[in-house]
Amino acid sequence: MNAGERIAYVGGAFVPEATATVSILDHAVLYGDGVFETVVAWQGRIFRLDDHVRRFLRSCMAVALDCPVTEDRLKDLVMTTVRRNGLQDAYIKWILTRGSNGTPLMDPTGCVPNLIIMARPYIDRSSPTGLRVKTVAIRRPPGHVLDAHVKSLNYLNLVMAKIEARAAAVDQALMLDVRGRLCEAPGFNVFVVTDEVVRTPRHDVLRGITRETTMHLAAELGYQAYESELELYDAYTADEMFLTSTAGGLVPVVEVDGRTVGDGEPGPVLSALQNAYREALSSARWSTPIG
Ligand SMILES: Cc1ncc(COP(=O)(O)O)c(C=O)c1O
Repeated sequence: MNAGERIAYVGGAFVPEATATVSILDHAVLYGDGVFETVVAWQGRIFRLDDHVRRFLRSCMAVALDCPVTEDRLKDLVMTTVRRNGLQDAYIKWILTRGSNGTPLMDPTGCVPNLIIMARPYIDRSSPTGLRVKTVAIRRPPGHVLDAHVKSLNYLNLVMAKIEARAAAVDQALMLDVRGRLCEAPGFNVFVVTDEVVRTPRHDVLRGITRETTMHLAAELGYQAYESELELYDAYTADEMFLTSTAGGLVPVVEVDGRTVGDGEPGPVLSALQNAYREALSSARWSTPIG
């Protein structure tokens, strides 16, 4: 391996990322069948690694996928991937595919799961001035169709939403469920703030780690914060609105469906939460040193 070459873990070994391959018979390729996690490292520490690993193992359980390594081995492999890429601030993704059983058929019998881990320099997905978002026609499916709690490779529903937002020349899609309740944005949870009360949708959403951190920090800062059934009215009348994700942190929304949120600038509650989140990211409280 050459110095400076990106390294990935695939098929049980560390290899140059440029030569890392997956079989065309892998059910991830054929059917979007697999689960994944995204974590970030900040100043040499991975944020809430244990919580991401736990959510990952729950995703595996929900889709009846056996993780080929133990929890400790997984953490070790993730940290080794970051170290081997010489990164302190990193965007890290690991994926467990259903694998292949040598046929292109959907029956998963005999498939051997494949763990893939990659690490990149930190990708900044923040937006200091805020996003313009639009509700899109495509809806989040209910849990009995495709469970949003599972961080699966089946993201076509979210990709369609992004395509719709791009066609409408806004920054991001806001997705509703089939009953019209607010859900999430592709790759992000959603929050509204009204009279300094912080609320986030309860149903058909991924239980985001950043969402949970935000609720925790909001409570610590003395704000009421809870999950709720939210409708478009709550977005249209919010004083502040923002999105959360591991890769983006807390991202302000300044316009929804052509309506200005608050005074069109990121608001004071978000600003307090962002400061607390920045501190949390590099604190020993929630993060694991890469070593
Ligand atoms: C659909 C969806 N919702 C929400 C999130 C945010 O979750 P987290 O804060 O754990 O990154 C993600 C992250 O990728 C996501 O894919």
